[in-house]
Amino acid sequence: MMRVFCCVSLLLSLALAYYIYIPLPETVSEPWKLMVLDAAIRSLFSVGGLLQSLGLCHHIKFIRHTVQTLQVLTPVPSGGPKVHDTTFAGVQVRVYESSSVEKGKLKRGLIFLHGGGWALGSTKEQSYDLLCRKMADELKAVIVSVEYRLVPDVHFPQQYDDCLEATKYFLRPEVLALYSVDPEHVGVSGDSAGGNLAAAVAQQVSVDDSILVKFSAQALIYPVLQALDFNTPSYLQNQNVPILYRAALIHFWLEYLNADHSLVYPMLINNHTGKDQKALSKHRSKFDWTTLLSPEFQKNYKPVIPVKGSPKILKKVPALLDVRAAPLLAEEEVLQRTPQAYILTCEHDVLRDDGLMYARRLQQAGVAVTSDHHADGFHGTLSFAFWPLKFEAGERAVLNLISWLNDHL
Ligand SMILES: *[C@@H]1O[C@H](CO)[C@@H](O)[C@H](O)[C@H]1NC(C)=O
Repeated sequence: MMRVFCCVSLLLSLALAYYIYIPLPETVSEPWKLMVLDAAIRSLFSVGGLLQSLGLCHHIKFIRHTVQTLQVLTPVPSGGPKVHDTTFAGVQVRVYESSSVEKGKLKRGLIFLHGGGWALGSTKEQSYDLLCRKMADELKAVIVSVEYRLVPDVHFPQQYDDCLEATKYFLRPEVLALYSVDPEHVGVSGDSAGGNLAAAVAQQVSVDDSILVKFSAQALIYPVLQALDFNTPSYLQNQNVPILYRAALIHFWLEYLNADHSLVYPMLINNHTGKDQKALSKHRSKFDWTTLLSPEFQKNYKPVIPVKGSPKILKKVPALLDVRAAPLLAEEEVLQRTPQAYILTCEHDVLRDDGLMYARRLQQAGVAVTSDHHADGFHGTLSFAFWPLKFEAGERAVLNLISWLNDHL
């Protein structure tokens, strides 16, 4: 009996180790921890996928619900900023007001847009909530974290519109005054899909003359910025590096743009941007990594541009060429008007080159850019900076972000 038990537990342990183990680059931060985290995320997606195929619920809703449930286990810190949920122009927001009061001194303001592939995440999610509390405290600021609506309830451009509407409301001089925020010191920030929204909103605020108060800083954390090249060196190098796999990101894009998932494979091989795509000629230079990336990041990769592609994709999904979805496609005249930028990129992230190319394009447009590249970073580090999901690379991402904002906002 004992022997059977031992054999079974041995086999189960081996199966578990096999499930968890994935080869990882040597330089990634805390590889074992990352493997366990990745296995947990993979399981969540598998169960979600199963429930969806059984017709029980959308996989995204299952994942969101599970994450929310697990968070109840962690207590909310006492003290710190004053936190309340409200709506700005009909959009849900969570506002964090630093409790520091210096007589006659106005506070800094920051719009924060969380990540999660336009489908996951929430202002209330522990990692984002703790980050915003910390930013409010340490920057003596008012942080507005926007609860924009998500896939599958809404698709592009609603997520963007929610963020823009909430932002425009906050930037109204009388609203800033109500929160004692200095109009000269308001910024915007976001990570991943939130970085995409932050970059897009920053561009729109810069060019819209009806918005009187302008941002003085933008801080983009491994932003998603384009969907025209899924074969940049970082997409190829990191296609199987957790926690954001190349194919998963294409699925998130297709959901966001409300397009058919049968496009994953053609887009994976850049069939939507073949040489025969006339509509692309005026955009190519804006995402041409052979000129926008320095050689150390190009490594030995070669551009993937099919001679003949699938011409229907850009027609079927015109949002692929919409700057509100893909801020990297903005014209230089627009970039010129955007505020000084902080762009955090991670070596082990498919989105590394999106961020690096945007940094280069902003610099070419004359914008001051702090490019903060993390050689051991992986996608999502900003969300893994607090107990119990704490990585050294995550703590450093938070530290660097706050210290840049402290100096520049
Ligand atoms: C890519 O485009 C070519 C040329 O139109 C076509 O023959 C091929 O089937 C496409 N590949 C995919 C995966 O759609």
